[in-house]
Amino acid sequence: MKKRVLSGIRATGRLHLGNYLGAVKGMLELQNSEEYETYYMVADVHTITTPYSVEDLRKNRREVILDYLAVGLDPEKSVIFQQSEIPEHLELSFYLSSVVTVAKMQHLPTFKDKVKQYPQNATMALLNYPILMSADILIYKGELVPVGIDQEPHLEVAREIARRFNQDYGTDLAEPQRFKTQGEYVPSLTGEGKMSKSIEGSYINLTDNLEEITAKVAKIPTDSGKGESIEGGVKSLFELVGLFQGKEEKDEYETLYKNGGVRYGDIKASLSEAIFNELRPIQEKRAEFEGDPDLVDRIISEGNEEARRVAKRTMEEVRKKMGLL
Ligand code: TRP
Repeated sequence: MKKRVLSGIRATGRLHLGNYLGAVKGMLELQNSEEYETYYMVADVHTITTPYSVEDLRKNRREVILDYLAVGLDPEKSVIFQQSEIPEHLELSFYLSSVVTVAKMQHLPTFKDKVKQYPQNATMALLNYPILMSADILIYKGELVPVGIDQEPHLEVAREIARRFNQDYGTDLAEPQRFKTQGEYVPSLTGEGKMSKSIEGSYINLTDNLEEITAKVAKIPTDSGKGESIEGGVKSLFELVGLFQGKEEKDEYETLYKNGGVRYGDIKASLSEAIFNELRPIQEKRAEFEGDPDLVDRIISEGNEEARRVAKRTMEEVRKKMGLL
C-alpha cells in the first residue's frame, strides 16, 4: 500500500515565495515519487477562522488551485480538491474534538499568536483550527504532511488525537509526520521574521512580474553596506540571494560586507532577476490554465469526487466504531 500524503494552504490569497519553498516544493517532490498517494487541497474552511471577506474567499479558493496547477501539481498524479466540498472533514472534526481538552487548545502557541493578532476574534472556530486540520489529515489516513515548520504544533495535535482516538475507539488512524523541505525558511522582505501573507510588504507572489519584484526587493531595508554582523533586512537579502542565486553568491556578499563593503543596488537588481527567472515558467503555465476555465472546473470536480470517496469510507468506519452507525 502506498503511503498517503495530505497538505493544504489556506485560501487567503495568491501563493507567495514562502508557500512555494516552504510547502509547495515538498508537495511536488512527494507527488513525483512512486511511493506516495498525494492529496492536496485548498483549505477554504480554515479561512473562516479569522476575519475574512466572502468575496475574497470565493475568489481566492480558485486562485490557490490555479497556483497549484501552475507550479506543477498534476491532476494525473495528485488529488487536487477543495476542503469545503468534503463536509466529512467537518463531521470528523467534531468527533475528534471529543478527545481534546479546551485547555490544551488554548495553550497552543499558534492559537495565542492569532488571538494577539485578532483580539476581538478569539472564536470557537479559531480554537478548533487544529482539530479541523487533524481531521483533514486523519480522514485520508495521511502519514506525511509537507508543511512549513510553523505547523509542527498542529501536527503534534494530530498525532495525539490519532493516538487517543485509536485507543478509545479501536480505529486505525495514522500518526502523521511532517515532511521537511529544503530551504524552507523564507525570510520576510521587512527584515523581521518569515515571509507571510498576513504581513504587508513581507512577500513576493508567484504571479508578480519583474517590475513588481524589483519594487518589493528595493524596499528591503539595508544599511551602509559594511559592518560586523549581518542582521535585519541585510540578513533577509543575503538569505534570499542564497535561496535564488546559490550559496557561493551569498558567501561572497557576506565576506565583502565584513571586509570592504557591498553595493545594494547591484545585489538587489540581480536578485530580482533571479527570482523572476524562477517564476517565469510558473507564470506561463498559470496563464494557460487561466485561459481554460472549463478544464480547471473539471480538475476540481474530479478531485473533489475522489477525495469524497475516500473520506466517506473513513467516516463509515469511524461512525461504526463510535456507535453512531
Ligand atoms: N494550517 C495550515 C497552514 O496554515 C493549512 C492547513 C489546513 C493544512 N489544513 C491542513 C496543512 C492540512 C496541512 C494539512 O499552513
